[in-house]
Amino acid sequence: MNEADAANRLMRLAKLIAHHDKLYHDQDAPEISDADYDALVRENRELEVEFPHLVRADSPSKRLGAAPTSALAKVTHARPMLSLDNAFSAEEVEEFVGQVRRFLKLPESEPIALTAEPKIDGLSCSLRYEQNRLVLAATRGDGAVGEDVTANVRTIADVPQNLFSREGGSLDQREALPAAADWAPAFAGEQVPDILEVRGEVYMSKADFAALNERQEAAGGKIFANPRNAAAGSLRQKDASITAARPLRFLAHGWGEISVPFGATQSEAMAKLASWGFPVSNLLKRCESVDEALDHYAKIEQERADLPFDIDGVVYKVDRLDWQDRLGFVGRAPRWGLAHKFPAEKAETTLEAIDIQVGRTGKLTPVGRLKPVGVGGVIVQNVTLHNRDEISRLGLRVGDRVRIQRAGDVIPQVVENLTRDEKRKAYIFPDHCPECHSEAVAEEGEVDVRCTGGLICPAQRIERLRHFVSRGAMDIDGLGEKSIVEFFELGWLHGPADVFRLKDRRGELIGREGWQEKSVDNLLAAIEARIGFDPARFLFGLGIRHVGIVTAKDLMKAFGSIEGLEAAARGPDAEVELSAVEGIGPVVAEALVDFFHESHNREQLAELLALARPAAFVSTARETAWTGKTIVFTGSLETMSRDEAKAQAERLGARAAGSVSAKTDLVVAGPGAGSKLKKAEELGIRVIGEGEWAEIVAGA
Ligand code: IVH
Repeated sequence: MNEADAANRLMRLAKLIAHHDKLYHDQDAPEISDADYDALVRENRELEVEFPHLVRADSPSKRLGAAPTSALAKVTHARPMLSLDNAFSAEEVEEFVGQVRRFLKLPESEPIALTAEPKIDGLSCSLRYEQNRLVLAATRGDGAVGEDVTANVRTIADVPQNLFSREGGSLDQREALPAAADWAPAFAGEQVPDILEVRGEVYMSKADFAALNERQEAAGGKIFANPRNAAAGSLRQKDASITAARPLRFLAHGWGEISVPFGATQSEAMAKLASWGFPVSNLLKRCESVDEALDHYAKIEQERADLPFDIDGVVYKVDRLDWQDRLGFVGRAPRWGLAHKFPAEKAETTLEAIDIQVGRTGKLTPVGRLKPVGVGGVIVQNVTLHNRDEISRLGLRVGDRVRIQRAGDVIPQVVENLTRDEKRKAYIFPDHCPECHSEAVAEEGEVDVRCTGGLICPAQRIERLRHFVSRGAMDIDGLGEKSIVEFFELGWLHGPADVFRLKDRRGELIGREGWQEKSVDNLLAAIEARIGFDPARFLFGLGIRHVGIVTAKDLMKAFGSIEGLEAAARGPDAEVELSAVEGIGPVVAEALVDFFHESHNREQLAELLALARPAAFVSTARETAWTGKTIVFTGSLETMSRDEAKAQAERLGARAAGSVSAKTDLVVAGPGAGSKLKKAEELGIRVIGEGEWAEIVAGA
């Protein structure tokens, strides 16, 4: 993937993940499975690792779920409630332990004990006890601020209201529940800390979930997609009597703020929690080595179907708490913990149809419509078939039996055609766009087939409009996908220039469903605020192929304005002149020349420029010793975000690049730096640490 595609994809991922976070956290009504969500998060992370200079300020990797927006009161957590990184293979688990070893600089001979326990599919909850009394219960929210669910949690029988040390805790009488950790009685009589925040999972058993949905159906109430959503919907109620009527359970897996430490190891501390009355999984085991932990994973996976509640993997934690302290956190996850997710689930079904979707750049993406089939607890009806070549590779035709796979790290896909040898009518990939009937062609050497209709294609126009107003581009609040389609169908929006003409529709708009005077005026004000906006974001918003935000900035830096760029792109030596710009290669140059040679594009652009009048490009850079130099940041930075470091470099007039080459002048390497650091050393490029970088910035 090239940089422009990566920037676009990252923008799309940020939007998609935010959308799904909102559905999940605010509405308890996800549209996609957890595995699909994980796949998006993982794709985002991998792209950010590959293109670190494209990490967005609104990247999902910087957020944790959605901040709560419901009517429940907000609670700031005494210690943030974080998440876990995921692994999908034994190798990744071994790599995790390897990283722990390297981080702590432990010799190979030093064993690293881990706890391993089921990863419960519920919602995390923090229970705060002061002087042995439950005083506060809160959901995770965005990790920093959650929701006050104290009254609701008080209705959960598993949650002790008052703590006192006892033998074996309350764990023994719970049928079908993870029983006591066997070693809990060893801590009978231990003092409970004055302040104790116990963290764990609120969940609903599979049987209780089925029964609840039956009751809901009979009563015409909301049907929940899975036990986790049922648990979330039941807990996050304004009226605690609703929660009381729902069969919720709780299982502890850790702690937040504590007034005194209560163990030297994770396993010892968990045993104490059990002895104080908290349910702890009886599948929690201290493993002396990674091999033993992986064996325990296999055992839990085998028992998965028979467990009374849903689990989606196994959580490992470094057992020694002094090591946990040293390991600390990176981003939103601890370095001492890992979630090992269960692997792909496969199923067989029939391919009932192949539909074609048309994207912003005209790409025709085939989507397989399946006879609905359950894969690992989720009903799958659609699969992406990627492109024309993938369909040929699998020899797919409508009517074939297919094996599909849903893995934690990929969107459902067809892995095999089971009836390839049967005689059936071949599928012919369209050579015309299904939306506008223009010719659809694949350029030489490209797998993707694209509609050539450009702006006459409604699908492309809608997608381009969406892109134009999107967060990374013009960032027009209040103009979501639904409104774009609505205005497009009304004939109000043909191209981006029409966005700036919506003010002429104020009266008509106010009368429409979902629009009041206030929301209309807010939208019009948001549009008005974009007159005279940043030309780089304006250029990016035009959606020219391969022109991501980074490229757009490089172009504006070089040409100063859209008009300047247009003149260059239409000049006699356009491709040479454009390619001479730092950061611009021949592919981008060609795309720009193509765009500015199309008269339709020029007309639209002229209209848009007249209405939106982007500002002149202002470089925030000063002349310094670093002006024109190329700097690469690699590894993690401790005192600032990567975005901040890059912004500092830009203010010094330097360019923050994503990869190390002979043109690199300086590499700033933090902990965890890998191949880029190695390459810099090989090329003899100056490498400094974060501290020295801070000195340069301060002194420049
Ligand atoms: S430990 C720093 N242990 O999974 C976070 N989490 O993907 C430590 N979860 O937010 C979390 N079972 O809500 C831990 N046995 C378990 C878990 C578990 C489920 C949830 C928890 C966490 C999320 C991370």
